[in-house]
This record gives sequence, C-alpha cells and structure tokens, in this order.
Amino acid sequence: MARERTLAMIKPDVVKKNVLGPVFTAIEEAGLRPVALRRTQLSKSQAEGFYAVHRQRPFFGELTEFMSSGPAVLMVLEGEDAIGRWRELLGATNPAEAVDGTLRKRFGTNIQCNGFHGSDAPETAAFEIGYLFPGMDIVPA
Ligand code: CMP
Repeated sequence: MARERTLAMIKPDVVKKNVLGPVFTAIEEAGLRPVALRRTQLSKSQAEGFYAVHRQRPFFGELTEFMSSGPAVLMVLEGEDAIGRWRELLGATNPAEAVDGTLRKRFGTNIQCNGFHGSDAPETAAFEIGYLFPGMDIVPA
C-alpha cells in the first residue's frame, strides 16, 4: 500500500465534546501522523464549497449549517493507506450503524452530526486538502 495523505476533520459536535485526546491516540495507534492541523470555524459558503458534491442532496442546507455552527479541527494525516485507515477508524457514516470501538460510534452524535469526515479517494483528498490548506507547504512526516 502506498504512502498517502488524507483530509481528516473533527466536526463541531465532537470539538464541543472536548475529546481530542482519544481521537489523537487512535490516530497515533493506527500509525498515522498529522502533518498539518488547524482549528477554525468554517463559513457557510466554505462548508458549501467543501460539500459541493452533495449540493443536490435534501440534507445539504442542514449539513452546511451544522458544519459552520462552531469550530472544527482540520488535519492532513499521512501514512500507509492513510485514506482507508482513517475511514476504518471512523466507522460507518451513521454512528448508530458504526462498529463498536470506531470513532463515530464512540463520539458521533447522529447521521448528520457524525463527528468526523475523511476523504474517500486520492482525488477527493487532493481537492479537500487544497481547499482547506490552500497554498500550504506541508512538510512530509
Ligand atoms: P461525511 O463523511 O462528512 O460526508 C457527507 C456528510 O453528509 C456525512 O459525513 C454526514 O455528515 C452527512 N450525511 C450523510 N448522509 C446523511 C443523511 N441521510 N442525512 C443527513 N446528513 C447526512
């Protein structure tokens, strides 16, 4: 498996719960390294641009409201199979359906406020990293 980068986000519901410690422990135990990190509150239009592929979905308005409702923690994670490993740590989109021990099961709230985001493919990761860390020179792990 190739060394990869993925965009990882801790969404406003989980930032509010103040449980960053166990999230970073899970990242480290999975052999992933945060190589870029920022805490910010997305504007509604930034959230709309980030989730542009979901623009036609019925939940788009509520999703982008939620995503801009409070601070989020944005990261670039690097490591072997980073995209797949981070998504495996997260579990299913709906926390209620996620396997025990996954981050969404442990800390997510509901299908919309599901605690975390992870890129789903190398092309998506490249777009999302460029979108949220524009022009940043990210030093490799
Ligand atoms: P994420 O992995 O960030 O990708 C798209 C997001 O849309 C997803 O997490 C959820 O936050 C949200 N989402 C997906 N399905 C639904 C749904 N059925 N109802 C509301 N929100 C959803």
